[in-house]
Amino acid sequence: MVLSGGKTPRVIFRYLAMPVFAEHINWRAVHFFWGDERCVPPDHPDSNFRLAQENLLRPLAIPAENIHRIEGELSPSEAATRYNAGLQAFFNGELPRFDLIHLGMGEDGHTASLFPGTAALAETEAKVVANDVPQLKTTRITFTAPLINAAHAVEFFVIGSEKANVLREVLVGDQHCHYPSQMIHPSQGTLTWLVTADAAAQLPAELVQTAEPV
Ligand code: 6PG
Repeated sequence: MVLSGGKTPRVIFRYLAMPVFAEHINWRAVHFFWGDERCVPPDHPDSNFRLAQENLLRPLAIPAENIHRIEGELSPSEAATRYNAGLQAFFNGELPRFDLIHLGMGEDGHTASLFPGTAALAETEAKVVANDVPQLKTTRITFTAPLINAAHAVEFFVIGSEKANVLREVLVGDQHCHYPSQMIHPSQGTLTWLVTADAAAQLPAELVQTAEPV
């Protein structure tokens, strides 16, 4: 399972950590990875690892050997190199095909740390890269679209009315990849958008299937 970062996952992590799910999910059989990370130490407030550690991994007592964090404390190139090596080892040199990749989406249509106009969007070979993001004046470590698209299942979580415009643009607007999120189409996997009603407010009704409350 590949986790995303930002604000959205917090509520999802806390939900997944509820005891009721442990009756159905053998969490000790799940290995956790990250689709992107900020170039900060693991205890930094901006760390995507820290977000998951506090809200999901520690509450579920996930064993350390099942947690494969991106080492944001290293130089960006070293962190990307080491993460690629870790994926190679975990997947025995095969193409890493994750069972499930969670993604979020920003108001600019970025996902993971694939931001509009950045070099990582053109990457066709590397799986994990250090991506300069001038609009944030920072570098991020990110999965590339080819790695995400190799997954068995990709799920976007989009929450909030502030995402309604971009969600409409991405899903029903011009599909010529103006937005990085439009690059996500698993070649042999499923793509599911899990969105709140306010985020879906501008979508055609026929595109939206309302989930029954649990
Ligand atoms: C990150 C995320 C990023 C996030 C979007 C949406 O490291 O920030 O991986 O891709 O999913 O920016 O962020 P919010 O959930 O905070 O809106």
